Amino acid sequence: MCGIVGILGNAPVAERLIDSLKRLEYRGYDSAGIATLEGGRLTRLRAAGKLKNLEAEAAAHPLAGVIGIGHTRWATHGGPTERNAHPHVAGRVAVVHNGIIENFRELKDALIAGGAVFESDTDTEVIAHLLSVALAAGETPQDALAKTLKRLRGAFALAILIEGEEDLLLAARRGSPLAVGLGKGETYLGSDAIALAPFTNRIVYLEEGDWAVLDRKGVTIFDAEDRPVARPLKVLQSSALLVEKGNYRHFMAKEIAEQPDVIGHTLAYYLDLAEGRAKAPEGLDFAAVERVSIAACGTAYYAGLVGKYWFERLARLPVDIDVASEFRYREVPLKPGGLSIFISQSGETADTLASLRYCREAGQRIAAVVNVPTSTIARESDVVLPTLAGPEIGVASTKAFTCQLSVLASLAVAAARARGTIDAAEEKRLVEALAEVPRLVSQALALEHEIAEIGRRIHKASDVLYLGRGTSYPIALEGALKLKELSYIHAEGYAAGELKHGPIALIDESVPVVVVAPFDSLFEKTASNMQEVAARGGRIILVTDEEGLAHAGLTPAETILLPKMPPEIAPIVYAIPVQFLAYHTAVVNGTDVDQPRNLAKSVTVE
Ligand code: F6R
Repeated sequence: MCGIVGILGNAPVAERLIDSLKRLEYRGYDSAGIATLEGGRLTRLRAAGKLKNLEAEAAAHPLAGVIGIGHTRWATHGGPTERNAHPHVAGRVAVVHNGIIENFRELKDALIAGGAVFESDTDTEVIAHLLSVALAAGETPQDALAKTLKRLRGAFALAILIEGEEDLLLAARRGSPLAVGLGKGETYLGSDAIALAPFTNRIVYLEEGDWAVLDRKGVTIFDAEDRPVARPLKVLQSSALLVEKGNYRHFMAKEIAEQPDVIGHTLAYYLDLAEGRAKAPEGLDFAAVERVSIAACGTAYYAGLVGKYWFERLARLPVDIDVASEFRYREVPLKPGGLSIFISQSGETADTLASLRYCREAGQRIAAVVNVPTSTIARESDVVLPTLAGPEIGVASTKAFTCQLSVLASLAVAAARARGTIDAAEEKRLVEALAEVPRLVSQALALEHEIAEIGRRIHKASDVLYLGRGTSYPIALEGALKLKELSYIHAEGYAAGELKHGPIALIDESVPVVVVAPFDSLFEKTASNMQEVAARGGRIILVTDEEGLAHAGLTPAETILLPKMPPEIAPIVYAIPVQFLAYHTAVVNGTDVDQPRNLAKSVTVE
């Protein structure tokens, strides 16, 4: 987590550093800071809380200087205070860091024994001290960095500014992403290319273990063994405008509204809509695969869970799925030649990446469903399966989730055809059903106003349950996750059949129970569970269609009615009402929808 930026410019950089940090705020937002060189001397501004506090500081005490670094923080070691905010300074050195230095305690003890005085509780400060000690001993900045890196254990991306060095920024990457931007007589550093979009689209990504020396003419990159290496220059298309909020109150609202478009783009990439065929994904031979393993985190994991139902039902392909933070430690026995799929919006999630590396070691073919095509997970995969959701800024994933579902549904159809479990007519039916998704999602978006009203009626609840069966079960899990992360109301998702095995004890008239139940082959079973809730006074919010309502056998407190649709596509469309319910409940509760407390968009720590 944490966002880092650096500019080696020809004009004052403070304002530009803060603008870049705004684009990185999704990575962390509990404190922020910048440092520049003014007449060769280090100057620094830091502020606890959101970036706007730093902006106010910068307005009150402007920093000059044409070279600088900046940071937006998601606290790991040390609370989110000004004292712990980056950049951290020791001697002539200022450092910003994303990641965790695992051996910082022993390094700190040794540095303190050598006379160093620490100002913060962070792990990062040891890096500034190590560099400072090396410089004081007469090392060049490059040698000091190479030496320091060898002493650090853990994951990091670093940007380093050194007093007296007006044409130098240093950078390093191990485990956490870092991009170098090349401009006209200026160079830049950023945790991702979006941060640099206003300055340049000419990007060089540092690879695992790389470190780099930047001056105004360009960049020299060294690998983990300190050998000079060339890394490809990429000219990116991503337009800076893509990350603006437009007329929406929140990025999340904009991203929910974009779903018909981005799902349409994604489906068109994987399906031949005119021919009614799923395109055979290049590099994946589903006919030759016996089992698939899927690992992901959070919302991406729930997408994988829906995928499991699709692959198993349609393609008769067994799927093992786990949250990546468990998968990587389970020591799963994997038969060489198997297929592992990783799902990630950011493509940087530490546990997902570690699971990927575990599977690579075990001789698996690696496929990644990712939204950021330049991400580490994408780059370390054999087959990249892009979601074409565009940049997702709201911390709570919405459009990336429905695009992940669209990719997995299309793959399941392709797998079914390749394995001969469906014929051409069934493939055509499924592809035609998928082609309807953008239109149906638009219809679901039209329910926003009435879902907002329901949000107003439940916002004081202290617990909310979500129930679903089959592919509606992961949507219930997703609905509960969205509600708790955005509105801070405790919410749980359950497989409807599990209700009577414990959670039913929670039900009384104060507990809203959201039942996600399109009228499908499982509806009657879910309707029985609903009766059990009603018999105990639970307040049912039924998300269903006309037929479901007619067969519910009770009058729910609230009903969200979606159009009738083939059951295979329902999970994609039914995701919309649970997104809206969480969004509007949070808006009523006045929480920070785009940046909920304690969270970060890109979880690059374990
Ligand atoms: C919840 C949410 C998170 C992410 C999770 C994985 O709304 O967004 O649960 O889904 O942190 O992130 P990615 O997909 O970037 O690997």
